[in-house]
Amino acid sequence: MRPHRFHPSTPLAAALLICGAVALAGCAEADPPKKPAASDTAKKPSKKDEKPAADNAADDSATDDAGAANAPVSYDLDSPDSVTVLVNKQRPLNPITFEPGDLVLPSLPNPNGQPVRQVMLADLERLAADAVAAGLPQPILSSGYRSYQLQESLFANYSANYGVAAADQFSARPGHSEHQTGLAVDLDDGSGCNLQACFGNTALGQWLRDNAHRYGFVLRYTEAGTPITGYTAEPWHFRYVGVEVAEAVRASGAETLEQFFGVA
Ligand code: DAL
Ligand code: ZN
Repeated sequence: MRPHRFHPSTPLAAALLICGAVALAGCAEADPPKKPAASDTAKKPSKKDEKPAADNAADDSATDDAGAANAPVSYDLDSPDSVTVLVNKQRPLNPITFEPGDLVLPSLPNPNGQPVRQVMLADLERLAADAVAAGLPQPILSSGYRSYQLQESLFANYSANYGVAAADQFSARPGHSEHQTGLAVDLDDGSGCNLQACFGNTALGQWLRDNAHRYGFVLRYTEAGTPITGYTAEPWHFRYVGVEVAEAVRASGAETLEQFFGVA
């Protein structure tokens, strides 16, 4: 199946704007607010590389003569189009209005018509196909890419409705959302738990928690990670980092990408 290129000037783009301004329930990430944010201290990586961190341990015993092959693993956390870009409350995208250049529409049911980056397409579609093959409900793409402008509209509406402090616990400010990278997806099973904590108790939610790493995705906002991320748990929000990195995150036992990348 050929992916469809996403054209911002199409009616889809108009739908996104309407969605952001009017129909918040259809595209928002509403979840009861919980704990306030904790800070983190971002250290800059030294070079671009997407080898898994687990390789570090093996490399430690090697001789220096091996040169670059044994250099410590580091990741590009800064480039907005890096698959390992780290975006959080302390690390906005740079430029802050970044727009990915390779957005495509995946084959999943997609009520808000939101695209994702091409780099995750095959793995996302494989994940959905394998979930169905395992007898689980068809995964629905509840959210994919969201522009700076849409995130701005969402955050403003949440702030007006719930107050800024509450909004900060479940919604990123514009320029600070992983959805703006095109590398984050919110998944649903159609059972009535869309963007709600109960999604974590569904069969699909549990399968995703246990298997998403095999497809390159990391469950980004867990309850245990809240003191670091500053966000209430979101059992529906998965961040694509590629299979190698996601497997390494899983193997490391890190609760958050901040911990895995050593910036928490
Ligand atoms: N709900 C997540 C934190 C976002 O708005 O990106
Ligand atoms: Zn999300």
